[in-house]
Amino acid sequence: LQPLLQGRFGRAYRYLGRTTSTQDELRAWAEAGAPEGAVVLAEQQTGGRGRRGRRWVSPPGAGLYFSVLLRPRLPLTDLLRLSLAAGVALAETAEVGGLKWPNDLLAPDGRKLAGVLVEADLRGEEVRYLLLGIGLNVHEAPLPPEAACLETYRPDLRRVDLLARLLARLEHWYDRLADAGAVLDAWRRFSYTLGRPVRIETPAGPVEGLAEDVEPSGALRVRLPDGTRRTVSAGDVALLQP
Ligand code: BTN
Repeated sequence: LQPLLQGRFGRAYRYLGRTTSTQDELRAWAEAGAPEGAVVLAEQQTGGRGRRGRRWVSPPGAGLYFSVLLRPRLPLTDLLRLSLAAGVALAETAEVGGLKWPNDLLAPDGRKLAGVLVEADLRGEEVRYLLLGIGLNVHEAPLPPEAACLETYRPDLRRVDLLARLLARLEHWYDRLADAGAVLDAWRRFSYTLGRPVRIETPAGPVEGLAEDVEPSGALRVRLPDGTRRTVSAGDVALLQP
């Protein structure tokens, strides 16, 4: 594996047969001084986490489950754009499907192929480090009904190649985060969200309307039925029937 990984991401890595969550393993390693780009990869997670307190079902050998350590000098307001950029890297790697805001990779039938979890270690307003966790379903396995696996669409892709490509694309976008225009354009290209009616469960309550565009911060702009606009920077999107 090592010779495949030419960049900063994955130069230091740990490969585990089984763990509760690669996020926790990487956090411990980060506290012990792991370098930026360090990766923890597991064949199986017994306590895989998704966004919003959900589980990420991680059967042995069926997916890519890994976390990358980032030590960015970014204002907190740029974190959402980083999470969009991670979605772009996923879509470029899988070469199938599209993105549900902010960064779920959906199969053409709308089931979920992959997701991104960003956990931040903060000291006040300052980001000490970030744990960027990625789960990508690759092979057929017992998964929840709303999940799909990449093998169905791309039986030619192998996990090891996917990992190398995904790390390279993540690094590419990480290095270009300041170029908001480039990140947004790439995200728009892979969007399954824009131009569609959506319902978003935000911390402040549900928002329903037409997903119009993404803002430089990464926030989603929604046009409400009364013509006013709302900008949403956190929440769970449901794509409604057009
Ligand atoms: C989501 O869409 O809800 C995010 C899913 C993120 C899952 C990955 S798998 C590797 C890393 N370790 C975890 O416990 N979660 C992330």
